[in-house]
Amino acid sequence: MTSIQPPAATIWWKQPLDRVEGTWIALALVWSLIMFIMMPLWHVYGKQNLSNEAYRTTPEAFIAKTQAMVDQYTVRTETNQNMPVVRPPPGSDVYLIGRLWQWWPLLEFEKGQTYRLHISSMDWQHGFSVQPVNINAQIVPGYEMVLTVTPDTSGDQTIICNEYCGIGHHNMVGKIYVTEGGS
Ligand code: CUA
Repeated sequence: MTSIQPPAATIWWKQPLDRVEGTWIALALVWSLIMFIMMPLWHVYGKQNLSNEAYRTTPEAFIAKTQAMVDQYTVRTETNQNMPVVRPPPGSDVYLIGRLWQWWPLLEFEKGQTYRLHISSMDWQHGFSVQPVNINAQIVPGYEMVLTVTPDTSGDQTIICNEYCGIGHHNMVGKIYVTEGGS
């Protein structure tokens, strides 16, 4: 019998279950239950899940808050595109804009200090992804994601966009400079 031909017995669904088939069904059931239990366990014990907060906002309101932070805490500008580098005080609220196609502004954090990082999009869906650490967040217009971050290593962290957003997607690269404490 092949699968192309109709089954020999008309009432094929009443045939007894084959041992091998039953074993596979049991294995699949057990494995799916393990995966189901792991979902909340990973959230609590895994290192890859952030406890995000999300709030409604508007692009206008968000850009105003970001601009105020940039005006107050810019420490220098990078030569390309005159990008401001902002060094907000530890513990403060920090704002980062995702838009076609940049993360604005560049940020400078102090190692071991905690920041509340608000991220929103001005236009489109973007993916906030920090390399090489495994931080990911979906950034959509109309909402601000808030991540509480405490950098534990100094050096340059690169932000990339991991949600395809058009022809400049691959150029959508930002930076978080993490300096040693007290500098
Ligand atoms: Cu923004 Cu891809």
